[in-house]
Amino acid sequence: MILPMYLYGQPVLRKTATPISNDYPDLQTLISDMFETMYKSDGIGLAAPQIGLSIRVIVIDASPLADDFPELADSKLTLINPQILAADGDDVTAEEGCLSLPGVHENVTRKNRIHITYFDEQWQAHDELVEGYLARVMQHEYDHLEGHVFTDRISPIRRQLIKGKLTNIAKGKARCSYKTKR
Ligand code: NI
Repeated sequence: MILPMYLYGQPVLRKTATPISNDYPDLQTLISDMFETMYKSDGIGLAAPQIGLSIRVIVIDASPLADDFPELADSKLTLINPQILAADGDDVTAEEGCLSLPGVHENVTRKNRIHITYFDEQWQAHDELVEGYLARVMQHEYDHLEGHVFTDRISPIRRQLIKGKLTNIAKGKARCSYKTKR
């Protein structure tokens, strides 16, 4: 089932999301709905707050970018209760967008490597060092669980320049090809 996307301005995007327990009701259905919603809107990652649920669940499939980033070929992942324990390596700047901020694309500087732990959809525990573009996607989605969006991380000058766009999104005036929460 395709779920409506919560856009910039919705309070759920500013909350710190809650960890879930392994008896969370209908979790597999939720995960499959999140993938379906992400694919339908041509996203490569989606965090539960973006569909209005303040819980620590993320889906990622960045394989459409595998032509440019070969390490993304097998990047279909579910991250439950992730924890980023460390971020290090080089600072890398690249353009990001977000399904909750349609029409906004800005350069964001992030660390190139993270140490992350999470549970997958089978509740298997993972403890991994992740580098490159996948580390960027994970950090972007993890930010959503902490109540942040990527425009929080751009320069004050850039943020001032896109203020009008953000206000329009918050007012429901954004042009969007997918279903959004009103
Ligand atoms: Ni996002």
